[in-house]
Amino acid sequence: MALVAPRALLAVRAARVIPRFGQALAWSVRSREIANFTYDTTRESQLLLGAVIAEISNRPIAEIVAYIDELNADKAIAEHVAGIAQTRDSRWNVDPGFKPGRRLAFYLLARALKPRRVVEAGVDKGLGGLLLSRALTLNRAEGHAGDYLGIELDPAKPIPLYEQWPEKIGHIIRGSSTEILRGQGAPIDLFIHDTIPEAGHMTDQLATVRSLMAPSGVIASTWTTPELIDHALQCNLKLLTHQEELADHWFPGDRIAFIYGYGIMGNSDKGVTSLDAHV
Ligand SMILES: C[S@@+](CC[C@H](N)C(=O)[O-])C[C@H]1O[C@@H](n2cnc3c(N)ncnc32)[C@H](O)[C@@H]1O
Repeated sequence: MALVAPRALLAVRAARVIPRFGQALAWSVRSREIANFTYDTTRESQLLLGAVIAEISNRPIAEIVAYIDELNADKAIAEHVAGIAQTRDSRWNVDPGFKPGRRLAFYLLARALKPRRVVEAGVDKGLGGLLLSRALTLNRAEGHAGDYLGIELDPAKPIPLYEQWPEKIGHIIRGSSTEILRGQGAPIDLFIHDTIPEAGHMTDQLATVRSLMAPSGVIASTWTTPELIDHALQCNLKLLTHQEELADHWFPGDRIAFIYGYGIMGNSDKGVTSLDAHV
């Protein structure tokens, strides 16, 4: 019993409860966001993400770090976000500071893989679509053509960050991603799963998209759920993850998952039968 208080103190310190509480309070007052947060990640976190993307894309780490720095220094994107945040419709839900958060992963993949076809399921206000457009524009300037399709369930949701970007690439289709994907032809080179982490939806979407992926295609998912792990294991696909570390934000960050190796593994069902069977 005598150790309860010192142990509690130790845990509170180690879990950074008080700084987190302070960050949460400051954020409650300063931010306009209520969902789908934007935030900065630490330099260390960005470099570790870069190392994972270098592995997936088989590109040198120096090239990926250059893409990180390129986005961090992108004044046009930062000014666009700040401008949208001032408009009548967005001033209550878009923060003026450009903070890519997990969408840095989407951007790096689009720059490193030079995909011909990118599909993003779950678009919301369009920050991912904006960064993917930017990456595709830069790729095009380097001689690599690429297109973007965004899929958004909400028929009325404004998508200002993407729609009002003067150099936007591609278009948005409104509807359920799984249904719309069923009507799409192959191949998809980069698929972003950023809808919801609900189990049934995730299983259905991954199964649908699997037959559409190019042999060198990559899926990036905001969530590493048991269904996603199961899918990769069952289909004998490669799976890497990255846990974000945030700079000055209470949000714990996402554990982004990357699935790839569709061609290498022959996309066959030679993998283990179920995650549960191996736990
Ligand atoms: C996490 S947000 C997307 C964030 C966005 N990718 C970004 O970069 O900011 C999730 C979005 O997915 C949409 N959504 C949810 N279920 C969906 C579905 N089945 N098909 C398409 N969009 C869906 C939601 O309406 C919401 O706008």
